[in-house]
Amino acid sequence: MAVIAVVGGQWGDEGKGKIIDLLAEKAKIVVRFSGGDNAGHTVINPYGEFRLHLVPSGIFYPQVTCIIGNGVAINPAVLLEEIDDLQSHGVGISRLFISDRAHLIMPYHILLDRLEEERRSKGALGTTLRGIGPVFADKVARVGIRTGDLLDRDIFLSRLKSALELKNIILTKVYQAPLLRLEEIYQQYCHYGERLMPFIRETSSIIREAATRGETVLLEGAQGALLDPDFGTYPYVTSSSPLAGASCIGAGLGPRGIDRVLGIFKAYNTRVGAGPMPTELKTKIGNLIREKAREYGATTGRPRRCGWFDAVAGRFSVQINGLSDIALTHLDIYDGFPSVKICTAYRFKGEALTSFPSDAVVLEKCQPVYEELEGWQESISGIRNFRKLPAQAHKYLSRLEDLLSCPISLVSTGPDRRQIIERNPKSEV
Ligand code: IMO
Ligand code: MG
Repeated sequence: MAVIAVVGGQWGDEGKGKIIDLLAEKAKIVVRFSGGDNAGHTVINPYGEFRLHLVPSGIFYPQVTCIIGNGVAINPAVLLEEIDDLQSHGVGISRLFISDRAHLIMPYHILLDRLEEERRSKGALGTTLRGIGPVFADKVARVGIRTGDLLDRDIFLSRLKSALELKNIILTKVYQAPLLRLEEIYQQYCHYGERLMPFIRETSSIIREAATRGETVLLEGAQGALLDPDFGTYPYVTSSSPLAGASCIGAGLGPRGIDRVLGIFKAYNTRVGAGPMPTELKTKIGNLIREKAREYGATTGRPRRCGWFDAVAGRFSVQINGLSDIALTHLDIYDGFPSVKICTAYRFKGEALTSFPSDAVVLEKCQPVYEELEGWQESISGIRNFRKLPAQAHKYLSRLEDLLSCPISLVSTGPDRRQIIERNPKSEV
């Protein structure tokens, strides 16, 4: 019984959906605390295969209350589509709540995201074009519109009117784009508001009360540490913090309320979008990982850049999140590899770097220094007992634990809910 933050340790797409779906079996509440529909959390379970962008991955259990927290930016069209899809698969959504403080993604946010990416041209960040940068910019600029505003049409109209006035000046004068019409957006969002009204409420009190009662609360992160606006590969980052620290703010808890911070890492690295990635493999091995693991974006369908596990970045992620333990996913992808490599340091201007640089320009020039370990030839995807893993896999995991200074408590060996090894250190040799 505890409050557990579950966060991405790399550049996103680590398998957070699967791990949340697994842990939610014993939870009372699952809260998404940051990001927006740039996230794509894949869950495969008896209901089918889902790519959740906004609804927390605990929605498949009838006893779990799911909350889209105040730290999330919500595109109501995407959320309603997701709700409809879940319902059509027989998944109940009566325990879903949306924070009245969550910001709304408006049509101009999506438009401005695209126009800005086009303007950057070769320097584009490779965003998901979901309006994420613009909506979080408006939040801190204090000109955002929140889900709670939809509950009162007069308030909503006046906020939309004043926001749109400025956006239309920017759209037409800066980008030479057509004007957006107030009436159209107003009507459309009033319609969304009507449908979402039953879900919208103050949510932080539900979370705090459950935590006080000692119930298990999962705080579901989106994206990954290396996309954090402060600690990630700035400016090639997202616009809300995916770190464990942000789970407090995005849900409405104090830092003392978090009992465990579980970091999700893939057994290798991937990145989608632009920005430095020292271990990227533009070789047959990179392609092999991509094809074997179907490494294509759940949100945009873009091929993900693939490479060996980067332990320099990984260690940094453990530190800035304050991880208690790690869930390592996709280990089965390495089945049959003659050898596997881990990046243990970077070479920069002839010197070895063992800490993660703050400057993306420096990171771009870093050459990975690898340690090579023997691979395993058998399939590990049916294994449920840690001791039954091949000796080479044990060595790989224990080397990662050494390099990251953090224990691996869960190992995922396939996409299905049952393909997991829950490690019990007492039963190990
Ligand atoms: P999940 O939750 C992987 C990346 C984008 C781009 C950068 C900025 O599925 O792990 P944005 O649209 O956020 O302004 O794009 O961040 N990105 C993700 N990459 N997984 C995600 O989420 C991501 N969300 C954003 O590709 O490089
Ligand atoms: Mg994703």
